[in-house]
Amino acid sequence: MAGNHAETVLNEVRKTLADVQESGRPKHIAIIMDGNGRWAKQRGKLRVFGHENGVEAVRKTVENCARLKIDYLTLYAFSTENWNRPKLEVETLMRLLVASLRRELKTLTENNIKLNAIGRIDSLPDRVHKELKEVIEKTSSHTGTTLTLALSYGSREELKTAVKTLCSKVKNNLISPDHIDETIINNHLYTHDLPDVDLLIRTSGEHRISNFLLWQIAYAELYFVDAFWPDFQEHHLVEAIMNYQNRERRFGKTSEQLDSADRTIPLSE
Ligand code: FPP
Repeated sequence: MAGNHAETVLNEVRKTLADVQESGRPKHIAIIMDGNGRWAKQRGKLRVFGHENGVEAVRKTVENCARLKIDYLTLYAFSTENWNRPKLEVETLMRLLVASLRRELKTLTENNIKLNAIGRIDSLPDRVHKELKEVIEKTSSHTGTTLTLALSYGSREELKTAVKTLCSKVKNNLISPDHIDETIINNHLYTHDLPDVDLLIRTSGEHRISNFLLWQIAYAELYFVDAFWPDFQEHHLVEAIMNYQNRERRFGKTSEQLDSADRTIPLSE
């Protein structure tokens, strides 16, 4: 009885997409989808059961971000470290990926969502690579939310690759070391066509970044949700966005500088 009452009260305060104000919404949301394994374990099931149920949370979150007109959503779906998981688990994740890509092309099209991928895409099994390329091509003209799947992705690997490419360009006199600035580094990352992350969400109560978008989250607001990924719902997303909208992003400046009319004062002044 007490539980029912608590649930009723909770539902009353739960927020929906309609509660999100238009102004000050994050342009780029990135999510570390964590807790599939523990969600399954709690139910006495194999880890892969958690991943299977995580797919539905992916679908709903993508649709909700499209409805909220979030320009960029990036999901950490498979890290470079995830290759070390048991063979059955890796195979299941690859199978779920192919199945989801096939099934969700219609959803992506109906919601004007453009698919993108970052990471060592060439290291994915052929069937995943092929399906991914196909859906990326078929959605390339869409102008709504850009959904980026981070697959076989590791931020250190990304930075290492960028450094190697830049070194080789310097060696071949294509670029001078004096000209290497943040824009040039950015242009050599997998994410060269994405803006910096504004809001990074991680589920499952863990407070770690786990080698995800280390360069791109330099000024991101971090938001942690206790729920495991398969339980991530609309109200979690809405609460994260509303929390973001209430924070003051100073980018190294003082509150007074942000309040003053002239917001273009350089940091050195
Ligand atoms: C982390 O949970 C989750 C993953 C490593 C994979 C995320 C994949 C999905 C949600 C399903 C397929 C994805 C798409 C895009 C269709 P964990 O296994 O690390 O959980 P644990 O920390 O409880 O062990």
